[in-house]
Amino acid sequence: MNLQTKYFFSITVLVLVFILFMTQTENGLFFKPTQVSVEKSEPNYQINQLINPTQNLNKSDYPTVFCLIKTHPNNIKSNKTLNAFRVWGHKCDNYRFVTLLPKHLKPKDESETVEVFENFYMIQPKGLVKESHGNLTLKLYYSMMYVYQKLPSYDWYYIVDDDAYVNVANLKEFLKDKSSNESITYGYNFKVIVKGGYHSGGPGYVLSNAAFTTINKAMVEKVANCPNTGTDDVDINACVRKYNGKLGKSADQNGRERFLVLSLMGHFLGHYPDWLRSYAENPLKKGFDCCADSIIAVHYMSPRDVFRLDLAIEIHKNVLKLYDKFQMLQKPVTFKNIIKNYILLEDIEYDRNKYKELINE
Ligand SMILES: *[C@@H]1O[C@H](CO)[C@@H](O)[C@H](O)[C@H]1NC(C)=O
Ligand SMILES: *[C@@H]1O[C@H](CO)[C@@H](O)[C@H](O)[C@H]1NC(C)=O
Ligand SMILES: *[C@@H]1O[C@H](CO)[C@@H](O)[C@H](O)[C@H]1NC(C)=O
Ligand SMILES: *[C@@H]1O[C@H](CO)[C@@H](O)[C@H](O)[C@H]1NC(C)=O
Repeated sequence: MNLQTKYFFSITVLVLVFILFMTQTENGLFFKPTQVSVEKSEPNYQINQLINPTQNLNKSDYPTVFCLIKTHPNNIKSNKTLNAFRVWGHKCDNYRFVTLLPKHLKPKDESETVEVFENFYMIQPKGLVKESHGNLTLKLYYSMMYVYQKLPSYDWYYIVDDDAYVNVANLKEFLKDKSSNESITYGYNFKVIVKGGYHSGGPGYVLSNAAFTTINKAMVEKVANCPNTGTDDVDINACVRKYNGKLGKSADQNGRERFLVLSLMGHFLGHYPDWLRSYAENPLKKGFDCCADSIIAVHYMSPRDVFRLDLAIEIHKNVLKLYDKFQMLQKPVTFKNIIKNYILLEDIEYDRNKYKELINE
């Protein structure tokens, strides 16, 4: 790049960052979502309207995705859940948070699945009276059966944690050429524990309509048709495999992961725990090679990380769009530039220069 180009690029980025942040503080962070309709969530969330790529998608060309997001009362109280909803949850074609309802929303009758709206839609599955790790599978099973009976016609069902970042547009792009009639799942692939493999629940996994329908039919008949060890990602995947559902592959053509089992920096810096080496189906990579350009989901993200990564991706997409208009560059969105933006935003926030240390090309 010559000096002039560099200058133009920096100014564009700065102006965009400035506009995005102003929009965020004025209309986003302090904004309370107004009533949303049951079938489609469309909160008045300015930043996403400004840069929401799903709104530019030709809807008929993309499959529909229902998101079932695991949360619990503490995260609702601390607004972690609300953040996940505002940044990415509302971009799903439909969604429900699955939780034990906070005290003030408690239903009189806990023997049926109940649905409540406060800032976002939540369901409390039948019989759930206490959040416990040992009961996660049943919490999910009863929620899934409820969704299956009420909202059965989405192409894909995505089950994910509330501490994940999700890029719904990239998820839809990935699923665009896949058949939801085949019983199959996609996510971060583990090759152990479940015969045929399973996906980490953290960054989530999608079940095709066929897979979702098959296991729910079996469960409606008898819940015990699906295994219950208490660990939901293991059990749900094991049940899909039991009924001959396939484990799909989601790494890109260069073997870079689209669903990240650890945090973004964990993957980028290659801070992989030993257990992961024996669990992971694909070789673990780090640096610019760790992750796909069309990244879909990342686990272990704080609310700030979630927001920052969304901004890093959307700034990148939008700056390129503007830049392309001017320079006809036709440069693709790359993971390399996403991580650069992400680190830069952190540097701006904390007034430091990690970029210099971490990005040495
Ligand atoms: C969207 O796609 C459909 C089918 O491919 C096409 O008929 C329609 O014109 C497209 N709409 C827009 C706005 O591009
Ligand atoms: C959560 O957000 C609401 C407004 O959206 C605010 O009133 C409340 O103080 C926040 N709670 C916490 C713990 O940050
Ligand atoms: C576990 O969750 C299921 C589904 O909500 C519920 O039916 C069951 O009573 C719960 N068990 C315990 C011990 O809380
Ligand atoms: C999926 O199944 C539906 C109904 O069974 C059928 O109309 C549709 O053509 C199928 N789509 C594909 C891609 O096989």
